[in-house]
Amino acid sequence: MASEGKNLVGVDIGSAAIKVCEIKEAGKGPRQLVRFGFHPLPADTIVDGHIINSGAVVEGLEKLFHGSKSRKVALRASGHSVIIKKIAMPLMTPAELAEQIKWEAEQHIPFDLAEVTLDYQTLTRREDQGQMDVLLVAAKKEEINDLYNLAIEARLQPVVVDLDAFTVQNVYEAAYGAPPPAETIVLIHVGASLTTVNILADGTTAFTRDIANGGNAITEEIQRQLGISREEAEAYKCGGDGRGIVPQEVPTIINQSVEQLAGEIQRSLDFYLATSGDREITNIFCSGGTANIRALLDALARRSRARVALLDPLLVAQPGGKLIDPVALQGRTAQAVVAMGLALRKERERSS
Ligand SMILES: Nc1ncnc2c1ncn2[C@@H]1O[C@H](COP(=O)(O)OP(=O)(O)OP(=O)(O)O)[C@@H](O)[C@H]1O
Ligand SMILES: [Mg+2]
Repeated sequence: MASEGKNLVGVDIGSAAIKVCEIKEAGKGPRQLVRFGFHPLPADTIVDGHIINSGAVVEGLEKLFHGSKSRKVALRASGHSVIIKKIAMPLMTPAELAEQIKWEAEQHIPFDLAEVTLDYQTLTRREDQGQMDVLLVAAKKEEINDLYNLAIEARLQPVVVDLDAFTVQNVYEAAYGAPPPAETIVLIHVGASLTTVNILADGTTAFTRDIANGGNAITEEIQRQLGISREEAEAYKCGGDGRGIVPQEVPTIINQSVEQLAGEIQRSLDFYLATSGDREITNIFCSGGTANIRALLDALARRSRARVALLDPLLVAQPGGKLIDPVALQGRTAQAVVAMGLALRKERERSS
């Protein structure tokens, strides 16, 4: 997809925090990250992808956009309100596909089709087998509308809505280039409440899965085992955060929780390997706040035997300009990835 016009401001409303990125592109010069904003949200503001306390979100957005002239935004839709499926269909023309896709969706999407917006993209045409792979995306209209209205309430102009899996892929491709044809790359985005796995084989999405597990589960386990408050548990998990010495049980609890999460992720990778005929996963790139836990990356490397690294969004755009707040970005690059991917989107897009 080629695009033109100014970059949109990327707004990632996650259950732990709102992240905002703004990128400036000048001709052929390098992209600059001219803004990063971070606003933590109180617990239970967003539960299972549903915005329960919209007031807190609007307030956060107003704060982050205070005095800002750029208000055209790209929003992140929660994976809870969207289903992505790769389906195999007989080879057909784009016009035939446009006609057929609704019937096909009916068999694959467990929501009432009257309540969803459908989108799709042809991934690969397998002429020899008379088949093609199509990526089907179905979003619940009501949830997307709620998100849209909330942005309007905060005096923003939403232009585009995108998903974790695709925005992370955008960042990956902008940072490292298109994946080499022979390699299988896995992008794993681990937030507070959700983990998204996106497997790229032969340069396109071959498999995606959302896992309802993330950093919250680790915090809750520390809280439960030590009988302490959520805030204390969260601070201990993130390495103390000025609260003195971390109790010695904490690393053990983190390791146990991380093993469980890595096990769930590995089951998705195993499922993919067993069903795709693909033999091995070459590289894994991790992002999202929970990817800051080194033990998680180590556990994934041990189980998958792939090379595991943090996805570095600063390869896409280096901080610059006078708007940037370097302190806000410190230690938060893993959390900035989705907002960064959204900030790569432009006002106008045209099919290439
Ligand atoms: N240094 C750190 N060590 C451990 N965990 C961390 C660290 N920094 C952030 N986290 C965890 O990352 C999570 C927040 O990450 P992120 O901002 O990606 O989530 P989110 O986008 O708000 O949530 P979601 O998308 O799942 O709704 C929290 O669980 C937080 O505790
Ligand atoms: Mg997130």
